[in-house]
Amino acid sequence: MLHNEPKWISLAHLPTPIHKLDKLTALLDGPEIYVKRDDLTGSGLSGNKVRKLEYLLADALEGNADTLITCGGIQSNHARATAIAAVQNGMRSVLVLRGEREVPYDGNIFLDRLVGADIRLVSEEQYALRIEQIMEQVAGELRDQGRRPYIIPEGGSNPIGVWGYIRASGEIRDQLEEMNLQVDVIVCAVGSGGTQAGLLLGGKLSDLGARVVGFNVCQTAEHFQGLIGRLVAETIERYDLSVRIAPDEIILVDGYVGRGYALSRPEELELIRTVAREEGIFLDPVYTGKAIFGLADQIRQGRFRKGEKILFLHTGGIYGLFTPQKRAGFFPGKA
Ligand SMILES: Cc1ncc(COP(=O)(O)O)c(C=O)c1O
Repeated sequence: MLHNEPKWISLAHLPTPIHKLDKLTALLDGPEIYVKRDDLTGSGLSGNKVRKLEYLLADALEGNADTLITCGGIQSNHARATAIAAVQNGMRSVLVLRGEREVPYDGNIFLDRLVGADIRLVSEEQYALRIEQIMEQVAGELRDQGRRPYIIPEGGSNPIGVWGYIRASGEIRDQLEEMNLQVDVIVCAVGSGGTQAGLLLGGKLSDLGARVVGFNVCQTAEHFQGLIGRLVAETIERYDLSVRIAPDEIILVDGYVGRGYALSRPEELELIRTVAREEGIFLDPVYTGKAIFGLADQIRQGRFRKGEKILFLHTGGIYGLFTPQKRAGFFPGKA
């Protein structure tokens, strides 16, 4: 237990394994690549969001909440994990999702529907302009009905959620020690910043001694340097953590958003297919597929070299593969 750690409940199946990706390492002919399998934190309730929810739900339950409200893209992994965690802990959920047409029946949202989440769609524009207000409105509506709502921000990325990857860093340290392995770099996909913020803080608190490199799958590196910097600073202040993260330690590699958030390029899908065939591991098209594509490209460009050891954090997202658009991308004519 770390100094000032907030309340925590167990949701994930831990520790998730770390193992080497021999075939991918050989294929890219650069650094040794290891993977931390946070895609295996569970089945429905899986991926990196579960670690954040272990703290966020503890906070919600402590305040006696009965309904979780959160937001995200139409195929949000975070919204799906929140809806499932709500049910498992005797609560309900309202998901405010970015979408204008009908609510589909595939991928993550299929599971949202199965667990009975209350799904509300808002336009792209409204989402960008006033998602916090919209969630406050939903909370007000629920309070009027006598319910006790708890709002979780996009991606679960606030100072409470950040603790998910502060704790995970301790798990990684213990595993690496046991494996007698020292890694130089930890690589992750970045969507709302909470995972990288937690890894940065946890890396220091657990003395991991590795650089943390994020690949942003939306927005720009500059945007996330600012956002993660603020999130780190707020977390340090709120929990009185005795660490300091310098701005140049917040490393993001721009240039791999590709066609845009959740949109795939054929070369990204091809690498997902290669990793599936060579390693038997399923990366997702929205986050981990783009991050590994970026990593492979940076290895080719010489940014990471032979002799270095990289730990790639597989943050989950498998249900993003199960949509007609992605199916058509992998198998044209079979959607
Ligand atoms: C599968 C997956 N990987 C990575 C991320 C990025 O994590 P974060 O939002 O903490 O930056 C997300 C969520 O945004 C995700 O769902």
